[in-house]
Parts: sequence; structure tokens; C-alpha cells
Amino acid sequence: MNNKIKLVLICGARPNFMKIAPIIFAIKKHNADKKKKTKIDHILVHTGQHYDVQMSEAFFRDLNIPEPDFNLEVGSGSHAVQTAEIMMRFEKICLQEKPDWVVVVGDVNSTMACTFVASKLWIKVAHVEAGLRSFDRQMPEEINRLVTDALADLLLTPSKDADRNLLREGVSKNKIKFVGNIMIDTLLNHVEKARQLRPHTKYNLTEKQYIFVTLHRPSNVDENKSLTIIMKHLTALSKKMPVIFPMHPRTRKNLIAFGLQDKIAKADNMIIIDPIGYHETIGLVDQSAFVLTDSGGLQEETTVLGIPCLTLRPNTERPVTITHGTNKLTTLKSLNDDMVAAPLGGKRRKRGIPPLWDGHTAERIVSILTS
Ligand code: UD1
Repeated sequence: MNNKIKLVLICGARPNFMKIAPIIFAIKKHNADKKKKTKIDHILVHTGQHYDVQMSEAFFRDLNIPEPDFNLEVGSGSHAVQTAEIMMRFEKICLQEKPDWVVVVGDVNSTMACTFVASKLWIKVAHVEAGLRSFDRQMPEEINRLVTDALADLLLTPSKDADRNLLREGVSKNKIKFVGNIMIDTLLNHVEKARQLRPHTKYNLTEKQYIFVTLHRPSNVDENKSLTIIMKHLTALSKKMPVIFPMHPRTRKNLIAFGLQDKIAKADNMIIIDPIGYHETIGLVDQSAFVLTDSGGLQEETTVLGIPCLTLRPNTERPVTITHGTNKLTTLKSLNDDMVAAPLGGKRRKRGIPPLWDGHTAERIVSILTS
């Protein structure tokens, strides 16, 4: 006789979509396998934390993610308002659907809000990408990670440092499962398509002769002073090497508010564009000389692609991208020197691709959830 388990999968903001896609495909593969006794019934919930076409729909299209079963359409708001709206709307889904598990990914407000709701309804929570710590509580994501991991029943980790963080916090060993990096499942599935697209040609860029930039963290872009310094360095550097900067709505809003937009528009080789989809992003990263970012995902993707990455942050919750990969932390003070040196860095990946960043993380997750 076949058993059935019911999962609710949560996505809400841009970096969630690449993490949820491979889980959906692994579930479909699992269900199609006649030898598997436990079948999975799954429901996809989009909280609507991100709602612009380029921040959400573009990823559903690029990654072939089916339409969500529910869209909570919470939109933007302060952290408290956004989190509360998600909680109120998600509670109704939980009561109606009565899942065995809620599966959350990453560290965004949607992740924490849905974990909180499910836990209080005694629904088990599995957290994909558990155990990462920046040890910086000024980052909203760090608070989200701490709360989610404290409440989740199953902690699925991307790297061994995450296991160590959880053990140090007193988490029981049998809750922790090292499954590898889910983001890399999507990368390996889509990198060929991204390369074939040759998106750099669309912007008249030459291979390995441009810098790919994404910056959206409040600590970098919410203050006039820091955003001005960043844009000043980038404009100066663009005279030597073109810069392409797909700009997050938060960054764009601040650029306008601080009166920096017009100045930047005059710089010849500063290509500022709206946010772009997954294939275009990976294609542009893959052919860049180096990447400047404050994104978590790009630190991991550049490590696997072997592209030098400068991360404009005082810390990272993804230390393997430094010890194994191509990542280097930088500051506003050292940004200029680091950017000049980056393409000459020569040495790329330091110790090979981190363990279990192999494209099979989703299969391991599904196998654990059904065992
Ligand atoms: C969120 C995540 C962050 C992740 C980032 C990726 C949290 C706490 N942060 O930050 O970890 O790296 O997503 O993008 O969950 N906006 C739009 N259109 C959209 C979405 C947002 O215009 O589709 C604008 C709104 O003005 C909004 C602002 O961006 O107020 C910030 O959006 P929000 O979802 O609160 O946080 P992010 O900065 O995107």
C-alpha cells in the first residue's frame, strides 16, 4: 500500500525561487518512480513579498516553476507589517490544507513568518539552507535565520560550517542533515542555457571585459553616504572597464532620492538596467571579469562558476565561498583597490567546489522527507 505525505512549499522573494524550483522537480521525479512507496502531495504558496514581474514572474518563467496554488499578495511594508501580513494570511492556508510538513527556504521574511505560523499549529517545518550565520544581528536575514532554525524540526544544511553553528547553539544532532546547496542544483540545471543566450552581446560587452554588479543590502544602499561612495568608485572604474548593474528597486529608489541618478546616467560605460531574469543573470556573471555584490546567492554561484567575486559586506554567512571558492570580502575603504586588483586575481577557486554542491541536493531532501 502506498503512503502519502502532504507538503506545503513556501516562496516569497527573489532568492527563494531558485531554491524551490529543484524541490518541485525532485518531488515530481519521486512521484513518477513506481518503486517509491511514499508519494508526495505538494502545494506551492507564494507570499507575494516580491511582486514586480522582474522580481518574481520572470523567475517562474525561466525556471519552469508551476503557478503557485496560493498567492498571499502581501507586497511591501515595514518588517513587522510584512511579517504580520504573511502570518495572518498563511495561518488560514495551514488550517485549510493541514499539511504534514511546511518546507521553507533561505532567510527572507517569508521564511520566518511561515515557520512561526506552522510551529504554533504543530505542523512540522523543514528549513532548507539551515545553520548559516553571519553573527551580525543588524542584518534582518540573521534574525530570520535564528528564529527559523530555533523552531524548525528538520534542519537541512548546505555546508559543514552550518552543522557546526547549529550544534554550538545546542540543536540536537538528529535534527540536522547535511544535504548540500540547493542553489547549485538550479545553477547546474540552467548554466548551459544561460551560456547559449550570450546576454553580454545584447549590451555590446566583450567576454571577460566587464564588471557585473548587484547591490541591494540596506547597509550599502539605504545611506546617502555609502551609496554615493559606491557609485563614485564604479563611475571611475567604468572608464577603464564597462560596468553592468541590474538594479534592485530598493537601490533604484535610493539613487533617485539621493539625487545620484542624473550623474550616473552621463557616465558612458555604466549600464544600469532593471532587474533581470535568471538566465540573463547567470549568463552575464559567467562571462564577466569579476562580480561585485552583496547578494548571498551570487557568492555561491561565482564559487561554482570560478568567477572572482568581491562581496561588499563586513561578514558572510557563507564562509566556504571564501575558504574554497572565489569570494573576497571588501569594504567601502578598500573597494577601489580591490576592484582594480580583482580581474588580475588569477587564482580562482581555492579548493574546488564545496562538498555536496553537486546538483543533487533536492533529491536528498525529498528522500529525507519521505523516509
Ligand atoms: C529581500 C530579502 C533579502 C533578499 C532580497 C532579494 C528580507 C528581510 N530580505 O530584501 O534577504 O536578499 O529580498 O531581493 O526578506 N520592491 C519592489 N518590487 C518588488 C519587491 C520589492 O519595488 O517586487 C521594493 C519595495 O519598495 C520594497 C523594497 O523593494 O519596500 C524592499 O523589498 P523587501 O521585500 O522588503 O526587501 P528586499 O530588500 O527586496
